[in-house]
Amino acid sequence: MLEYDVVVVGAGLAGMRAALAAKNNGVSVAVITKVHPVRSHSNAAQGGINAALTDRGDTWEDHAFDTIKGSDYLADQDAVEVMCREAGQEVINMEHMGVIFSRDAEGKLGTRAFGGQRQARTFFVADFTGQALLHVLYEQTIKSEINVYEEWFILSLIINDEKCEGLIIMDIKSGKIEALKAKAVIMASGGLGRIFEPSTNALICTGDGMALAYRGGAQLMDMEMVQYHPTTLKSNGALMSEGARGEGAYLINANGDRFMETYAPNMKELASRDVVSRSEQTEINEGRGVDGCVFLDCRHLGEKVINEKLSQIKELAYDFANVDMTKEPVPIRPGMHYQMGGIKTNIDGETKIPGLYAAGEVACVSVHGGNRLGANSLLDTLVFGRRSGEHASDRTKTERFSSIDSKLIEDQKALIQGLLDQPNDSEMFGSIRLDMGKTMNEHLAVFRTQQGMETALTKISELKNRYKTVHVPDKGKVFNTNLIFTLELDFMLDCAESIVISGLERKESRGAHTRIDYPDRDDNNWLKHILVSLKNQNKIIEYQDVKITQWETQKRTY
Ligand code: FUM
Repeated sequence: MLEYDVVVVGAGLAGMRAALAAKNNGVSVAVITKVHPVRSHSNAAQGGINAALTDRGDTWEDHAFDTIKGSDYLADQDAVEVMCREAGQEVINMEHMGVIFSRDAEGKLGTRAFGGQRQARTFFVADFTGQALLHVLYEQTIKSEINVYEEWFILSLIINDEKCEGLIIMDIKSGKIEALKAKAVIMASGGLGRIFEPSTNALICTGDGMALAYRGGAQLMDMEMVQYHPTTLKSNGALMSEGARGEGAYLINANGDRFMETYAPNMKELASRDVVSRSEQTEINEGRGVDGCVFLDCRHLGEKVINEKLSQIKELAYDFANVDMTKEPVPIRPGMHYQMGGIKTNIDGETKIPGLYAAGEVACVSVHGGNRLGANSLLDTLVFGRRSGEHASDRTKTERFSSIDSKLIEDQKALIQGLLDQPNDSEMFGSIRLDMGKTMNEHLAVFRTQQGMETALTKISELKNRYKTVHVPDKGKVFNTNLIFTLELDFMLDCAESIVISGLERKESRGAHTRIDYPDRDDNNWLKHILVSLKNQNKIIEYQDVKITQWETQKRTY
């Protein structure tokens, strides 16, 4: 049986950073991932990574305050302090590993302005920062001789006596199902964006890690907090980086007005994302948009800036909207981008289940609260990926491998066979997945209501019933993507349900959770996290107070 001290699930930035930290701590490490590492969704991160470098007169305290204000005071301040204190070193580490960051006129690492921040503290590589970081971390993983199991799918956690002792896994290439023993498992499998249609997320972002941990008994926290990014292409939902507004692009409505001057007179287009998305949606709803969108206007930036710093989104606009952004405004609208909630962890990545850690978008530490600042997600992956790797590897030094009951493997084989044996006269995964995505985008988007969320809950329950008879026409074992998509859908439905349940629970408006029926933030009753978990198949809802260290709540203005 395969066994490693630490097994990391996912090979994006959080996963590879965790694996490197664990390996450097002298334990055996494997990374298991359903796609090749450089196809992980971290690859799609565009704008940059935040850090307060003191040589620019910036301080970690200012970064922390902007993060906490951006979160609408739902972030735990002890965790934010850790992230912001450790940010500078993490960026310098990446530079030393080989990331070629864009530089300023003096040849120093360059920064650009990003939303919700009073300082330009976003370090970047043009508009493909995630790709640059990911490739360098992958090189480091190879150099460190970390075993990477590419194209393996996780079917279940192995939980024994309430402890996580490994995984049941399937080799996508051969269909082989086996157990992987571990003294610690670090879940770093990314987000769940594709529960919504459309989304800026890659098709692989199906919430597998959150659902696996939830089924294993972990708590999901802040799941109602789903970020709609202000600038996604109207045509297909692709991301148009906030880096464009950081470089000075405007948002304009059908009349050509810079409407953010009304909603956020100081920060304008660089207010926090929840504020900008709500403003855009209000313009659209009140008839000042064009066919469901407003516009990102980059024309005044000039070809040189666009070609040097925004070349990827220039191509995206050209390919998917047939727009040359040096000459015309780009049609955009708010679109699902990021899940602030996730598996509840502490600042070392530990979950409630001994032996199970989580880091990156799959986790909720919580540093983003009700609204994440742009360019804090790459930072979160690196800081908490590293911390999880360090803590998990320390833990394994006093742990022993347990024996694994082979019945667990047989149970998973039977579940898969059951799916393959479904009669061929029922529907496939695709129609259920699309209905789920549209439902979530209709009722859990920028503005929400009790009635809309109740409709979504009923619909998700119907979709779960439809899933019970879903059929998989491809009966083969080798690269059965039809089977993988079907298994992913099961995870997605659990995640979707937890988002709706949490959304219905929070009876106020905070950050990305804006309820027309409860328009105000209510610190007296809701300065707390909502946690959802499963006990004996029953859904349990619990609360936890937000940790305040030094920043009391204030009214937010931008
Ligand atoms: O707009 C962007 O480049 C996205 C960055 C982020 O989500 O952090």
